[in-house]
Amino acid sequence: MKRRAGFIALTLSLLVQFGTAQAEEDAGELPPYSHKMFDIPASATVLSDNYRSSWARLSGFEYSGLHWNQFIILYSNIGQEVYKENYLQYITWFEDPDDDDNTPEYSSYPEGTVILKENFASKQGKPNAAISVTAMIKKPAGYDSANGDWEYLQFGPDGTVLLQGAASKPYVEQQCGACHRSVADRDYVFAHVFSALK
Ligand code: HEC
Repeated sequence: MKRRAGFIALTLSLLVQFGTAQAEEDAGELPPYSHKMFDIPASATVLSDNYRSSWARLSGFEYSGLHWNQFIILYSNIGQEVYKENYLQYITWFEDPDDDDNTPEYSSYPEGTVILKENFASKQGKPNAAISVTAMIKKPAGYDSANGDWEYLQFGPDGTVLLQGAASKPYVEQQCGACHRSVADRDYVFAHVFSALK
């Protein structure tokens, strides 16, 4: 019995060692942001399959108390200058909101902009499982002019679309549009977090 327990322990430790070596080898092959965390839905052709490595990364992991207590990472294909400038306008206003001369001047995003947010569960204060991607896609003028011409999109880690459409659809309005309307002056994009180096 004792010998058998020893054999099991040895087998387990070999498996663990092999697993660790394999994980290190896998991790070493790709830079961190080349790892794909979400499958892209077929209906979302505007999202590049390798957005993680080819788009601008607007932030690293940020903890979002407002967005369901999840960790988030933000990316965009274009429009990052607008995002950064609106973020700076916002925090400058935030420093002294009572000053009447301190009025933020926000800009709108160019057509074709995609702001993509990866959402991760939080476990013991750290990022955990991939939960969903939420994205906003700036469509041509007239797509939904009452709501900034944004298409809202949400999908799960396996690429299953959970929601897609304009805020003129009641379900999208209820799930996304109503909240993002509170920052209509910022072209519906909060631009609360920014930690890109350039
Ligand atoms: C309860 C309010 C609320 C709802 C509902 C909501 N959002 Fe947001 N969203 C935010 C806030 C606040 C941020 C800013 C980042 C942060 O603080 O988490 C944000 C950020 C984002 C961003 C990054 C760009 C930005 O605005 O800064 C995207 C993309 C986004 N949300 C998409 C969606 C989609 C798609 C839905 C619907 C499935 C949705 N959101 C529903 C509040 C909301």
